[in-house]
Amino acid sequence: GSCCGCPTKVSCKGVGLHKFPKELGHGVKYLELSNNFIQNLSGSHMLGFGQLEYLDVCFNQLEAVSAAALAQLPQLRSLLLGSNRLDHNYVANGQAFRLLRNIEVLDLSANNLESHMAGWYISNLTKLRMLDLSGNKMTRLPAGIFWGTRQLRELDLSNNYIMEIEEGAFEALEELEVVNLALNSLHCISGFSLTQLRVLNLSHNALELFVSEEGAEPYLLQVLDLSHNRLLYFPELPKAHYLTHLNLSNNLIASLLPGSHHLGEFVLRYKEMASFNGTSPAAAGLTHVVDLDLSNNRLQLFPFTFFHSLGSLRSLSLAMNCLQEVARESLAGSTEPSDRSPALPEHAALSVRSLDLRSNAIHVLPRWFFDSLPQLETIDLGSNSLHGSHVAAPGGNCTPFYNVPRLKHLNLHKNNITRLRPYAFNQTLLLSLDLSGNKDLFVPKEALGGLEFSLQKLSLRDNQMDNSKTELPCLGTLKVLDLSGNNLSLLPTGLFCSPLESLDVRHNNLLTLEKPALTSWSRSLKDVAVAGNPFSCCSLAWLDMLQVAGVGVRDLDEALCAYRDGSRNFSAKITSSPRWLCPHPRSTSPLALLVVIIGIFSLSSGACCLLKKGQKSPGCAGPRTNKVGVFPSHPKRDEPAEAKPADSVTKV
Ligand SMILES: *[C@@H]1O[C@H](CO)[C@@H](O)[C@H](O)[C@H]1NC(C)=O
Ligand SMILES: *[C@@H]1O[C@H](CO)[C@@H](O)[C@H](O)[C@H]1NC(C)=O
Ligand SMILES: *[C@@H]1O[C@H](CO)[C@@H](O)[C@H](O)[C@H]1NC(C)=O
Ligand SMILES: *[C@@H]1O[C@H](CO)[C@@H](O)[C@H](O)[C@H]1NC(C)=O
Ligand SMILES: *[C@@H]1O[C@H](CO)[C@@H](O)[C@H](O)[C@H]1NC(C)=O
Ligand SMILES: *[C@@H]1O[C@H](CO)[C@@H](O)[C@H](O)[C@H]1NC(C)=O
Ligand SMILES: *[C@@H]1O[C@H](CO)[C@@H](O)[C@H](O)[C@H]1NC(C)=O
Ligand SMILES: *[C@@H]1O[C@H](CO)[C@@H](O)[C@H](O)[C@H]1NC(C)=O
Ligand SMILES: *[C@@H]1O[C@H](CO)[C@@H](O)[C@H](O)[C@H]1NC(C)=O
Repeated sequence: GSCCGCPTKVSCKGVGLHKFPKELGHGVKYLELSNNFIQNLSGSHMLGFGQLEYLDVCFNQLEAVSAAALAQLPQLRSLLLGSNRLDHNYVANGQAFRLLRNIEVLDLSANNLESHMAGWYISNLTKLRMLDLSGNKMTRLPAGIFWGTRQLRELDLSNNYIMEIEEGAFEALEELEVVNLALNSLHCISGFSLTQLRVLNLSHNALELFVSEEGAEPYLLQVLDLSHNRLLYFPELPKAHYLTHLNLSNNLIASLLPGSHHLGEFVLRYKEMASFNGTSPAAAGLTHVVDLDLSNNRLQLFPFTFFHSLGSLRSLSLAMNCLQEVARESLAGSTEPSDRSPALPEHAALSVRSLDLRSNAIHVLPRWFFDSLPQLETIDLGSNSLHGSHVAAPGGNCTPFYNVPRLKHLNLHKNNITRLRPYAFNQTLLLSLDLSGNKDLFVPKEALGGLEFSLQKLSLRDNQMDNSKTELPCLGTLKVLDLSGNNLSLLPTGLFCSPLESLDVRHNNLLTLEKPALTSWSRSLKDVAVAGNPFSCCSLAWLDMLQVAGVGVRDLDEALCAYRDGSRNFSAKITSSPRWLCPHPRSTSPLALLVVIIGIFSLSSGACCLLKKGQKSPGCAGPRTNKVGVFPSHPKRDEPAEAKPADSVTKV
């Protein structure tokens, strides 16, 4: 094999080396030997290694590291030895490691190391700051394991079998900031007292209990990941005043009410359970939490009151719980009926901007719910059961999506909604609305009334809607529209006045894309998806128009069309459609089409001018006042269409 690099950096990655090189160009600081077959790092005369600062020997078959070799690397700061066999000869190797006086970064991941081996390797690395022991076979952290590495800042112990952390194991590590214990077998954390930590990852363990030490100083902890455990209750973190991100997803939390604990629910018994009585409001100190993930738990009530003390909360996920009712739990444990709640006091409002309620069983959201979330910008209500409530109009007794001033993004995917009421979103200036997966949805024309000047993105995907159920008003700002998976044979006419950029009409009943629609979008449209429609091979003018206008057809290769040959119907790829079989051959030269399109545009401008003259207004109107014409108005449409360069067109 051969190595490459510049004078100070050399890479011999994956070149089939079986031996450590004996000689290195003078002054090399960085040497990469990963993905080779090196077994031993030995050799008493290694020329040119004196300046080496970084050595990567990951993914080799390393099992012996000699003191003689390490003695020649006095400048080494980073030593990466992940994915080797350092469980072999660990006594002699560990002895040699004591010569790594200046080492700051050490990777010993995936080396089959048991706890005592790992401890031996790191027993005297006084300058070490980052240590990776992930993917080994450690089962416990003995009390003294880190005594020789007092400067550690970052420690990765993930993906081991750690079941036990002896008291004081981390005690010497005053500078420790980041600890990853994910993917281990810990059952209980009590008396958590690492006040210096900033990031702690305990995800994918078997934790039932997480209790911090009583009376400890304030914790510096900012990020705590407790996802994928078996927590039954919200962790007790009374002094974690700096915590900003808390992840409790994939646990077994059924209630956030204090005093709702039943010790019988724990699978194991711990002596700490005596002091864990859960009567303190668990969230009291969490004033800086911005991001709280409680998805995939067992909550049945939206725990409104619980969140009041989380004054910085911006993003909250309660997705995949069992929420049915959005009643407010009071601290006393009683619930108020959801429909007739008294006016809320000012402080009761939550600061949440993004709320994820996906995959619950919510039937209705009461008015006070939105009033209590005045900052709400995004809400995902996909896969719930809002169907009965029909998504209300003002005055109705159902979910009121109107007049939620800051709401921008609303997802109502898969709610079994069959009909939208008129003006359902009046005065809620949505930018995006997802109504997909509501089979047989009826969208009457007035339903989206009020969104004419805000909505930019709309999905009506997989609703099996036919023409009569899809009436859209003139949505003057709509850019992205997904109509796929319906039963449309015509595009809703209201759309012609939208400045569409992206359109998905896959899997409908379209024989063609109508010319007026394409004309009105010719300045804005950038891409379409069309496969799965029964297009006619003999009327593909729409395709020519798209291509002349430089619109990308995302799935042209999959699109089929049908033609008749004699009395039989055939299906062909649209890209190789046998146009010569069509009854009325016509010119398909792009140039001719361009002329046609320009013709259309000048015609409509002409109509406008004539009209204006008739009204005695001075001169020809500008694009924005061009409201009357042969075709529906469209911003900028009186500028001639330009043929975009051919390379932006999907190749046929
Ligand atoms: C590697 O080192 C071990 C132990 O020092 C020794 O037994 C073995 O022969 C060496 N192998 C090679 C290929 O140098
Ligand atoms: C540990 O390392 C320090 C400094 O690097 C050195 O002075 C000391 O002798 C070493 N101790 C052992 C037991 O090797
Ligand atoms: C914690 O570790 C898990 C598993 O490796 C990882 O998926 C997750 O992103 C980590 N969490 C944080 C906050 O880094
Ligand atoms: C919480 O953890 C889950 C699972 O590991 C992950 O999917 C999710 O993104 C995390 N949430 C946050 C807010 O980091
Ligand atoms: C609950 O714990 C708190 C603090 O840990 C303690 O002051 C209180 O007496 C305990 N209450 C019960 C009922 O054990
Ligand atoms: C959808 O709603 C109707 C009533 O509106 C109900 O009869 C039907 O069972 C619901 N379907 C599902 C899948 O929830
Ligand atoms: C929509 O909101 C406006 C402003 O409040 C109001 O005047 C109008 O009546 C509402 N429309 C409907 C149909 O509720
Ligand atoms: C689609 O609409 C046509 C009429 O336009 C109707 O005959 C057909 O049954 C509809 N298909 C579905 C799946 O609803
Ligand atoms: C062929 O297709 C046309 C239009 O799609 C239809 O009217 C006709 O019945 C079809 N003929 C056969 C033989 O399937």
